[in-house]
Amino acid sequence: MQYNLRVPGPTPLPDAVRAAQAAQMIDHRGTEFAELLRETTSGLATLIGTRGEVLLLTGSGTGGLEAVVVNTLSPGDRVLAVSIGAFGDRFASIAEQFGASVERLEVEWGSAVDPGQLASRLADRAPFRAVLLTHNETSTGVANPLRELAAVVHAAHGAPLLLVDGISGLGAMPFDMDDWGVDAVVSASQKAWMASPGIAIAALGSRAWDAIETAQMPRFYWDFREARSWAQKGQTPWTPAVSVLFGLRVGVARLLAEGREATWARHAAVAAGVQAGLEAVGLQLVASAPHRSATVTAAWLPDGLEWGPLNARMRAQGTIIAGGQGKWTGKILRLGHMGDVGIAEMTDALEILSDALAHFGHAASPERVASAARRGFEEHFDGGVATPVAAQG
Ligand SMILES: Cc1ncc(COP(=O)(O)O)c(C=O)c1O
Repeated sequence: MQYNLRVPGPTPLPDAVRAAQAAQMIDHRGTEFAELLRETTSGLATLIGTRGEVLLLTGSGTGGLEAVVVNTLSPGDRVLAVSIGAFGDRFASIAEQFGASVERLEVEWGSAVDPGQLASRLADRAPFRAVLLTHNETSTGVANPLRELAAVVHAAHGAPLLLVDGISGLGAMPFDMDDWGVDAVVSASQKAWMASPGIAIAALGSRAWDAIETAQMPRFYWDFREARSWAQKGQTPWTPAVSVLFGLRVGVARLLAEGREATWARHAAVAAGVQAGLEAVGLQLVASAPHRSATVTAAWLPDGLEWGPLNARMRAQGTIIAGGQGKWTGKILRLGHMGDVGIAEMTDALEILSDALAHFGHAASPERVASAARRGFEEHFDGGVATPVAAQG
């Protein structure tokens, strides 16, 4: 069955990525691999907006977060973990597990961090060694105002490191690592990069490298000093997920061909279409307008509607969306729209959702939903339509 996979990662693979991932194996200590690594990391650096180093680690995004923690921090370091949802909580837990002295700034789920709130938390206290922030909180569909928050962190005394979980926003939403002064950011191959799961991406600035030299947390597999010295030879210290890297190279090339700003505009317009479509079926969005994510949209399930049967009905029709996580399990639904996606795919998913809602007794018309979504998309794009990656062959 052909699935319309609309979860916030893994994302559907373009045909060119699938073909690349099916290629014969190569020697990961040979010149072909060195070129694969060089091309992929330099493309990623351009897309992330950094002249710093990009390391490709075999593991999932969570592994990348752990790698950043253990490479930059020491047990006992004071760390401020800012959490707006399930993934912010996870980042905090990792730092705690490895012995950092973590203080949490917890924001109500569904909201973003207010820069003023962060500034007052950072003021009048002993300095923090690092601040952990989430760029795009996938569990709630909320994007933090990262640029403003980064400025607040820089103004804080003690010059804390700024370590960012950018897993579900990077590549799809505005992000300028060097310009914003982010010291380390993590993403993962199965998100906007359009490849299979298996590679974590860690971009590191010079302040992060200074910290890496002195950090005392235990590390072996994730040791960035090893990864860097092997990368200089065009290799990784351990056997990498070569096939995923084949796909990642193609995904990155497609995003470079589209252009960063065009990709960001496409995602923002698709998100506006999805938001308009969900509102047209009578669902209430979780996030307020200024903080809505461009890659994942969450809406409250209407009273009396259970997630399980709704999900099962949509799955039977080949459309897979996500439910809530953690304390929001059974309370919300989430649509992922990152990577190889245009408004047509999202309109199809919204029509299936609308049909399922009607089946369970909630008035919704698939035609109305589709036209609302298309209108939302077009209004947002204002005529400057970037061709969806899917249409670029
Ligand atoms: C914001 C964010 N952080 C962390 C993760 C965890 O990544 P992984 O599942 O690849 O370990 C995800 C995955 O959805 C995410 O969206």
